[in-house]
Amino acid sequence: MLEDFLPEQQTPDALMLFGFWYRALPCDAVKPGEIRPAMLLEQALVVGRDQESRAFALRDACPHRGMPLSCGRLDAGQIECSYHGWRFDARSGQCTLIPSLVADQKLKVDRIYAGSYPCEERDDFIWVFIPDPGPAGAGFTKAAPAPTPAPEVPKFSDRYKLAYLTADLPCSVDHGVIGLMDPAHGPFVHQSWWWRTRHSIHEKRKNFEPIPFGFRMSAHTPSSNSAPYKLLRLYAKADSITTTIDFVLPNLRSEVIRAGKYWFSSLTTVTPITRSRCRIDVVAAWNLFRWMPFAADLLKFVFAKFVEQDRRTMELQSEGLKYNPHLMLIDDADRPAKWYFGLKSAYLDMKKTGGEFRHPMSGPVTLRWRS
Ligand code: FES
Ligand SMILES: [Fe+2]
Repeated sequence: MLEDFLPEQQTPDALMLFGFWYRALPCDAVKPGEIRPAMLLEQALVVGRDQESRAFALRDACPHRGMPLSCGRLDAGQIECSYHGWRFDARSGQCTLIPSLVADQKLKVDRIYAGSYPCEERDDFIWVFIPDPGPAGAGFTKAAPAPTPAPEVPKFSDRYKLAYLTADLPCSVDHGVIGLMDPAHGPFVHQSWWWRTRHSIHEKRKNFEPIPFGFRMSAHTPSSNSAPYKLLRLYAKADSITTTIDFVLPNLRSEVIRAGKYWFSSLTTVTPITRSRCRIDVVAAWNLFRWMPFAADLLKFVFAKFVEQDRRTMELQSEGLKYNPHLMLIDDADRPAKWYFGLKSAYLDMKKTGGEFRHPMSGPVTLRWRS
């Protein structure tokens, strides 16, 4: 069944998964009273924040004649379209005013809706739920609420620090995701004296297990050449440090490192913008070094280096991919990528047939590779 999971069948027309929450914009990109255009899964959105600072997301096309609502203005919690001045409640999308109507014209204004999307703020990002298919509520129906709350960075104490990082990638979401979970590129792409070099390559053996809509690299002592591990050893005995890495559809990679009462965790997402562009967002939370004044900056600096190395790699890779080369996924290093494609097609099958989710893993597996 290997052919089913080969990336070349997915990438020319990379399928994007609807029915999930996606990160739209960093919270600090939208101030109270502002609106911004944004794109998720090839859907144009206008994302904004009312005067009470509550975030909202609407389809960026006026239901009257399609003018982008992001060209309009926000006034007292309502968006006014720049073409004929129709007004919509920013949170529900419900039409509140059509200025051209005269007193005895009985058009039921409040039955008209600009498509609105469920929208929540979590850990420095505005998340938007993209329903299937397309936006519910465009035209005459109210948007449905999201079935689940937006995902969040795992946290293990009340006090912690948070930092985020974001980068655009010139590739499909599939290449973004499999690049993120690829264990074999580290020594080549992320070489540096304080992290790892080609000479630090050694054999790894890790246990994986299926979890709902995803898989987990079971809790283990982190690789001795990883930077967070080296830092954590300042706090705790080496053998008390554990790390767990989860991948869950559509695009969530969470990593949790724990050492006694200290912890470091991150939630990284690769978000489809269009079929050929995606964006990587990393949000990290930790309760280490809270006494250290520039810890967040230092961490951001380290993460930014990593993300920039990945971004540059994918930029170069996209040059080669233009020529549609034959691609391959090998065992065991690319097995997580195969599971990703397997999870994705299981999800699409489930939607199509209305049947059960057929997980591509039948049980725990040990993978071995050198990196
Ligand atoms: S297009 Fe928006 S009011 Fe006419
Ligand atoms: Fe990487």
